[in-house]
Amino acid sequence: MSDNLQMSFNLDGYSALGSPLPPEGYKGFAGFHKYWGKKPVEVWRFLIENLAEPHDIVLDPFLGSGLIAKECVGQNCRFIGFDINPISIELAKLYLRPPDYIDLGNAIFAFEKHLKPRINSMYQLSDGNIVTHFLWNNDQITRVWTKRGSRKVELNPTELELKGFQSAEEYQPKRLRKLQLFDNTRINSQKNLTIDTLFSPRALRAIDLIKSEIEQYSDNLKRALLLILSASVGQMSNMVFAVSKRGKTKGIETDKIEVGSWIVGYWCPTQHFEINAWNCYATKASKLLKAVAEARTSKKTPISSNPNDFFNEKETVCVQQGDAEQLLKDIPAESIKVILTDPPHGDRIPYLELSEMWNSILGLDYDYEDELVVSNAKERGKDIQSYNEKLSSIFSQCARVLKKNGIMAILFNARSECHWQSFRELEASIGLTFIGCYPSPYSAGSVLQDNRKGGLKTDYVLLFGKQINEKNREKTVETFRNIKNWTTRYPKESN
Ligand SMILES: C[S@@+](CC[C@H](N)C(=O)[O-])C[C@H]1O[C@@H](n2cnc3c(N)ncnc32)[C@H](O)[C@@H]1O
Repeated sequence: MSDNLQMSFNLDGYSALGSPLPPEGYKGFAGFHKYWGKKPVEVWRFLIENLAEPHDIVLDPFLGSGLIAKECVGQNCRFIGFDINPISIELAKLYLRPPDYIDLGNAIFAFEKHLKPRINSMYQLSDGNIVTHFLWNNDQITRVWTKRGSRKVELNPTELELKGFQSAEEYQPKRLRKLQLFDNTRINSQKNLTIDTLFSPRALRAIDLIKSEIEQYSDNLKRALLLILSASVGQMSNMVFAVSKRGKTKGIETDKIEVGSWIVGYWCPTQHFEINAWNCYATKASKLLKAVAEARTSKKTPISSNPNDFFNEKETVCVQQGDAEQLLKDIPAESIKVILTDPPHGDRIPYLELSEMWNSILGLDYDYEDELVVSNAKERGKDIQSYNEKLSSIFSQCARVLKKNGIMAILFNARSECHWQSFRELEASIGLTFIGCYPSPYSAGSVLQDNRKGGLKTDYVLLFGKQINEKNREKTVETFRNIKNWTTRYPKESN
């Protein structure tokens, strides 16, 4: 079924005039921090341009990576967004109110001066060189890399050096809260997983040092420095796999080992790299600094976290952490012109479980109970039925807050027939009318793809209108009809 469906759409970008630009890939802020299920900004830009007028209010109850908030404000729209995941809100705030370029540069420079030598002292060889990478195999370091100038050099450390690096004393981090996970084989997590399984004592000590140094800063600069840390911890962890390649150098057979990356979940491969923690932080810091430089002229928008103030004081932007089902109740009826949203797609990504490493390192809290998700962690009781009920309740709230002739665009993808079916039922019950949909391709390798049986290779943008009159419906169809593979039928009915 799904294979036929994939075949029925040609996803080689778009051809027609007035179509969204094909995603360029994740650059600037969009490329700074991993976020599961992050969608290309071009997808949002196109929808905002075509559905909203300046000063309209746009709502997204499932903010995710937070990039949509910045796009809306950039197009002079007012924006209100929620997410249950606290790191999502931190990211949205970073993009809306980035720190001053000079302040961020100075802070990184100060870290380079004071913090780098302290962290690097844990990676120092007896000749003074600093280790950039350890390759571990079964609790043994098998290779050590360092640098001479910009050249990578592989070394054979002395027995004594190896012993020192391998037997780093256990370290109890002082500034990280405990991991709260569940038994979930799909993402390799266990209820009793502790942070010292994911990181070497050296990396934990480095993370603590970085956090303590960040303490002296405040507001949006502190937020940026902390998010640089969460953006870099994946590469600091024991979850960076090693890519083994058999190749030939000058006609001689060699085993080449390359550094992979932390991908998804909490899998610590037996053979993995341990990368110098300072280098990981510095790489992400320069990425953010560059993004801030590019965004230098952009407005620094005041951010409200109170929906009442947003509506009463006519503020520009409001982002709030919490359960959309509850928070939507604070939004007045018929107050929103456009809803653009991308809810969790059934059982595809357990966002909070996957983000727990970041949230524990940043000390951010939330309530797992309220997440909209289908999780393989049995203990959570997050099954398809409870997911459907919660999604219906959230969409009913969305329909309530939408103005007449307002449009709701939903990005969705589902493996199971019943998820699409529930959309149909929902449409009738909450008074929204389906207008049409089109496939929205990812940029290559950008998002965690669902390769399981039944998974579609692309999301769909589904458009619904509230009590939409014929004139407005036709106008909307006119705007989108040139998009390749636009259809007025549901995805599963199109083949
Ligand atoms: C598909 S992602 C959104 C991705 C986003 N469109 C982007 O481009 O990054 C869905 C989001 O819904 C959030 N979420 C799950 N349950 C929620 C709830 N009850 N209330 C608010 N947000 C929730 C997840 O934390 C996740 O960030």
